[in-house]
Amino acid sequence: MKTKNKNGPRVGIFGATGAVGKELQKVLHDRKFPLSSIRLFASERSAGKTVETPFGKKTIENANNADYSGIDIAFFAIGGGWPKENAKKATDAGCIVIDNSSTFRYDDTVPLVVPEINAGSIGSSRLIANPNCTTAIAAIPLWVIYKNYGLKKVIISTYQATSGAGAEGMEELVRETRNYLEGKEAGHEVFQYPIAFNLIPHIDKFQDNDYTKEEMKVVWETRKIFGDQKIPLSCTCVRIPTMRVHSESIVVETEKPVDPAELRDILRKTAGVTVKDDITKNIYPMPLTATGKYDVEVGRIRQSLIFGRHGIEFFVCGDQLLRGAASNAVQIAEAMLSRL
Ligand SMILES: NC(=O)c1ccc[n+]([C@@H]2O[C@H](COP(=O)([O-])OP(=O)(O)OC[C@H]3O[C@@H](n4cnc5c(N)ncnc54)[C@H](OP(=O)(O)O)[C@@H]3O)[C@@H](O)[C@H]2O)c1
Repeated sequence: MKTKNKNGPRVGIFGATGAVGKELQKVLHDRKFPLSSIRLFASERSAGKTVETPFGKKTIENANNADYSGIDIAFFAIGGGWPKENAKKATDAGCIVIDNSSTFRYDDTVPLVVPEINAGSIGSSRLIANPNCTTAIAAIPLWVIYKNYGLKKVIISTYQATSGAGAEGMEELVRETRNYLEGKEAGHEVFQYPIAFNLIPHIDKFQDNDYTKEEMKVVWETRKIFGDQKIPLSCTCVRIPTMRVHSESIVVETEKPVDPAELRDILRKTAGVTVKDDITKNIYPMPLTATGKYDVEVGRIRQSLIFGRHGIEFFVCGDQLLRGAASNAVQIAEAMLSRL
């Protein structure tokens, strides 16, 4: 382990030109993370380019040539095989790595953390996994219900923004929409079908059980974060033509009777949640209002018609580039500041 840098940790963002990497820069700045320096890394394609950041102009460095001995905390926001090839190099050099990809999430030796729920699981680990965005957005309200009423069954249906597929996903939505409105063929490259004026019930690869990997990630990761492998949960994930924010309709059968008004009150006092629930004034969560927010919006809280007093249904919107990626990662780093 490196000795502490008295001026604050030296930070590296890997994947700094991507959707998550850009948000990481904003979040570190907005939350006044006490860093002493920040360096930005991306692929060879971007290396040498100068970019405007909240920390002033910065030159992008090649992530593949990084010398980790000059970095105390590395935020990884690069997909594919890159994190597996590079995490050990970083941790061996004494660097703390917070990885946004799915690479280490199912490794029992790597903590998977939503700080409001299980910051304690970080322990002395130098490699920490950030959860999948869909998992992270549902996790805090579900945790509240788990602790107060018990979870007997959970069924989730999602409405996921194009930015969930990175910067390319957003560009594809704009390009297709323009083509469509100009009477041209919409075309598609990033998603399996055109996403403009459509929705696609297919995110990530289909698994042997006919669910997609995105759907199974929510099951595997919720269980790991809650430390309870028995939670009965299933999910249907759908891509929709919005830019940002994943929305989720969640149906829960509870162990104990649950009162919607009482749950609303508990959620109002819960860190990471903003209750937006006044149907008399048409107030409920929406992607437009949740965009750019650190909290997830929770609303449409109602007693379930199916499960009666033992059931609750609600709607959640969370900015997946923040709650489901950048702000969760920075909050993990904040929880580790005493080590940095
Ligand atoms: N988007 C989300 O909502 C979200 C949420 C949670 C987690 N994640 C995860 O976070 C990671 C990044 O996602 P993203 O959405 O930000 O992707 P993105 O917008 O496509 O950005 C990818 C970043 O990785 C860099 N990169 C790609 N290949 C590289 C290589 N071989 N070597 C070095 N750098 C390379 C890119 O650099 P260039 O610009 O130079 O190509 C870019 O900075 C992924 O693992 C993703 O699953 C994403």
